[in-house]
Amino acid sequence: MHDQSRPWTDTSLPAEQRVALLLSAMTLEEKVAQMVQISYSTVTPDEADRWAKLGAGSFLHTLGDNARRLQRLATGTRLGIPVIFGIDAIHGHAIHNGATVFPTQLALAASWNPALAERMGEITAREVAAEGLHWAFSPVFCLGRDLRWGRIDETFGEDPCLAGKMGAAVVRGYQGSDPSDTDRIIACAKHYIAYGESTGGRDSYDSPVSMRTVRDVFLPPFEEAVKAGCETFMAGYESVDRVPCSAHGELIRGVLKEELKFDGFVVTDWSNLTSLVKRQRVARDAREAARIAVNAGNDMIMTSPEFYEAALEEIRAGAIPLDQIDDAVRRILSVKIRAGIFDNPDKVKTTPLAEDPLARSAEAVFNCERHRRENLEAARASMVLLKNGDVRGKPALPVRARGDAGDGMAVPPSRAREVRTIAVIGPNADSVRAQFGDWTFFTHPVPHLDAVPSFRVITMLEGFRALAAERGVRVLHDKGCDIFDPDNHTIPRARRLAAKADIVFVCVGDTLVQTGETHDRADLALSGAQDRLVEELSAVCSKRGIPLVSILVNGKPLEFARVVAASDAVLETFNSGTEGGTAAAEIAFGKYNPRGRLPISFPRKTGQLPVYYNQLPGWHEGSYHDCPGDPLFAFGEGLSYSRFRYGAPRLSSARARATDTIRVSVDVTNSGDCAGTETVQLYVSDSFASIVTPVKSLKAFAQVDVPAGATVTAELALEVGSLAIVLPDGRKVVEPGEFDILVGHDSRSGSLASATLTVEE
Ligand code: NOJ
Repeated sequence: MHDQSRPWTDTSLPAEQRVALLLSAMTLEEKVAQMVQISYSTVTPDEADRWAKLGAGSFLHTLGDNARRLQRLATGTRLGIPVIFGIDAIHGHAIHNGATVFPTQLALAASWNPALAERMGEITAREVAAEGLHWAFSPVFCLGRDLRWGRIDETFGEDPCLAGKMGAAVVRGYQGSDPSDTDRIIACAKHYIAYGESTGGRDSYDSPVSMRTVRDVFLPPFEEAVKAGCETFMAGYESVDRVPCSAHGELIRGVLKEELKFDGFVVTDWSNLTSLVKRQRVARDAREAARIAVNAGNDMIMTSPEFYEAALEEIRAGAIPLDQIDDAVRRILSVKIRAGIFDNPDKVKTTPLAEDPLARSAEAVFNCERHRRENLEAARASMVLLKNGDVRGKPALPVRARGDAGDGMAVPPSRAREVRTIAVIGPNADSVRAQFGDWTFFTHPVPHLDAVPSFRVITMLEGFRALAAERGVRVLHDKGCDIFDPDNHTIPRARRLAAKADIVFVCVGDTLVQTGETHDRADLALSGAQDRLVEELSAVCSKRGIPLVSILVNGKPLEFARVVAASDAVLETFNSGTEGGTAAAEIAFGKYNPRGRLPISFPRKTGQLPVYYNQLPGWHEGSYHDCPGDPLFAFGEGLSYSRFRYGAPRLSSARARATDTIRVSVDVTNSGDCAGTETVQLYVSDSFASIVTPVKSLKAFAQVDVPAGATVTAELALEVGSLAIVLPDGRKVVEPGEFDILVGHDSRSGSLASATLTVEE
């Protein structure tokens, strides 16, 4: 039974009707308040309560009892409109100390596995919802192309196709088929748009890109978000070709809402409205800023509370049309209804979950057995083996204990290197902070760098210790050096340990303050004495004929050229989350056959940037006088313990029209001695076009499991429409002519075989 005095609470009515009933009952003040989002971390509890009573539409960064209290106040108001709580659950609900910390988005992208990303989304939703919160500010659909930018770790890498597919999967994971489900939440596609392209990799500056480039490169992933039903979008900090995102009517109202028919709501990023006045200086005061932001199509204003009074004054003065306010509030209320917030503000479970009867309480859900298991799977699939050289006639990895029969190994034990003692060295061997990366309780909502995790984190060292103990292998450990101070090191001690080991693992990379928002870097060289540590260990190892394996623990690509040259094997783990150490050790001990592929290219030097693969052609191979043109590691690269060979790609039809979808098949043979998983990548290169087109662009990918010695046919669907280019006048067209369809292991030309597709008029 619904409350008769509040007809919009009648759940038997269609959502639009409920929203219309509610809108007609609202005062102007109540409407504008719905558009206000307050950060719990920047106001006092009393101020927060006052905003809740005023009917603020949303709060962010509110956890536990504080959220409950504010929700009671909101639902106790005249109309009882519940608050929508937003949280930066970026790689898991990691701001809540105790919840699952997944690999970062960049790491997850290395799995090239949308199904895995969807499960990560689903688990994160379950943990966020268990706390009574509704909305994650995730996923990030920005592209990571300037590696100096601090937020590369938050992206799905450099490619629009991969980012779009992974991001859409996370949206589906959060929202499910019905976001009102008590285990689901609302997603937020951010940061709209071209945010990662900010000048010089400096966060929040101008992205000097044309509308043509926006539509061509940066819009496609966001289009995937709309198609996946993403309920909200966030407008970026930056300006796009000088127009601040939150003032960009053409992009928000025009492209997103009218053209793409996005019917959820748009929230600004943090204090974007204030910045229109104070930083970007396109508005003289809050009133003008409010007018610009509402006109442009922003529906909710994050952390610029001055918006409330300013907007009311502008509306009363007739400067903001009421129908714009009604449209914004209609969108917000519709999302709240679709998300089930009206009917169940705290996301309380009405039926116990069969699998987990205690799931009402957040504590029972956070990091529960299933979530840890899935998190471990995500970490395993996200790690990329970049090098695995031979040392004394055997590849450096994997290893096994001497005398170990090799039970549970993914590779034939005879192939593994026998060890009795291993050394695990390096500043990131035992660093939870480095392993977690940004957006956890260490950093948000306020920096809390000395926080202690309330749950067990498997650092690299712990992962190796656990697997080594099971096998009777001895583990030696030393930090080797400080990650910052080059003079603060114990390299001689580390060398002495290396002299006693049968293999040396050295964990290097970056740590929290070198990555994340407001932590852009001008120099991507390894900090402190890390290069020296690796090179000195390498000298000891080569002398003794034992392998040196570098394990990279880093938010984003850095200058690893010296590390790679000095190492026999290199395993990239990025920020791998709670279970990262287990995953890395399983790969090292041959329990898991690595399958991750780089979602981003690695530079040789910072000055070589940008190094993304899908660049436009020039004359001179792109090399510098003092540096080759190609990256150290290219997009798509990654090894496994299997060996894959490709046949020639076959097209279901060599001629097609723009509206067709063709099937591309290719035989993948595993000529190695263990089963493996291969990610087949399909790139397209336009032979001739009326504008310059990228050397190649990823259009599809598929993962195939191939038993040892077997051949499996991978099938990929290629939508001919995806070969469209955006002309200078903004029109998107598939031009007739020939296209090279390139299929193979990674984006380097040498690993791709081609077939020709002719697109007809
Ligand atoms: C600013 C960040 O740019 C954005 O990604 C985040 O969601 C908001 N702050 C809220 O914390």
